[in-house]
Amino acid sequence: MRILSLNNVTKTFGGLVAVAGVSCGVDRGAVVGLIGPNGAGKTTVFNMITGSTRPDDGHIFFAGHSIRGLRPHRIVALGIARTFQTIRLFPGLSVLENVLSGCHCRMRSGLVSSLLRLPGQRREERLVIERAMAELEFVGLAGLWRSTAGSLAYGDQRRLEIARALATEPRLLILDEPAGGMNEQETQELAALVGSIRDRDVTIMLIEHDMGFVMPVCDQLLVMENGILIAQGTPQEIQNNPKVVEAYLGLDEDA
Ligand SMILES: Nc1ncnc2c1ncn2[C@@H]1O[C@H](COP(=O)(O)OP(=O)(O)O)[C@@H](O)[C@H]1O
Ligand SMILES: [Mg+2]
Repeated sequence: MRILSLNNVTKTFGGLVAVAGVSCGVDRGAVVGLIGPNGAGKTTVFNMITGSTRPDDGHIFFAGHSIRGLRPHRIVALGIARTFQTIRLFPGLSVLENVLSGCHCRMRSGLVSSLLRLPGQRREERLVIERAMAELEFVGLAGLWRSTAGSLAYGDQRRLEIARALATEPRLLILDEPAGGMNEQETQELAALVGSIRDRDVTIMLIEHDMGFVMPVCDQLLVMENGILIAQGTPQEIQNNPKVVEAYLGLDEDA
């Protein structure tokens, strides 16, 4: 079953066509990698799916909803969460508070009960904190819940962003270069974490340059170059696709 479909999605910045008529689909339960050289338009595709950039043209459907042009918080509420290529945490807040900032959209109690601190509100707060701690446990950061986010090692900050995204209970998780700045061991742990997120019936899309990470972790790959989707298929199909080797994978051999 398709959970996400992009149909002819296009975005231009001034004269630059960053994303040119991209059409593709993502099956529920898949791990899909989006690869391509720097500037290919990968992050712009993620920004359009998550509502931070409005497409100029085309359609985006998620779980039966047309989500094109919806505000980011509406899209989170429908079940899409993300992390960012450049980490976006609240560095002065604690690790736990950062995860709680993601839980916000799932809280039912409104402002009035929050001000009056009604019993239902307190119960909900307790549940939200338990849930946030469970996500920290899941990514291996529970022991650091009191630390300020800015004091964490780089790889831990990336995992904290994932915990915050998971706390919104997404059906689709979008990771923009999650292994960026990680050492080899952290990258291996991330691969295992992606597997256990998928085991929770969360569909995953990720951008990553490290082919040693992408190939074993992804079921499907989408390849972009100059705003165009030049290929899609299994990692094996992509590895043997001459267009892709020329545009992207061959770069390593030349270097
Ligand atoms: N907000 C923006 N304003 C102007 N140009 C942008 C903006 N965002 C991205 N671009 C340009 O669009 C192209 C695609 O960028 P991006 O989607 O970030 O590529 P990738 O993630 O594949 O490296 C690049 O040429 C980039 O400079
Ligand atoms: Mg990018």
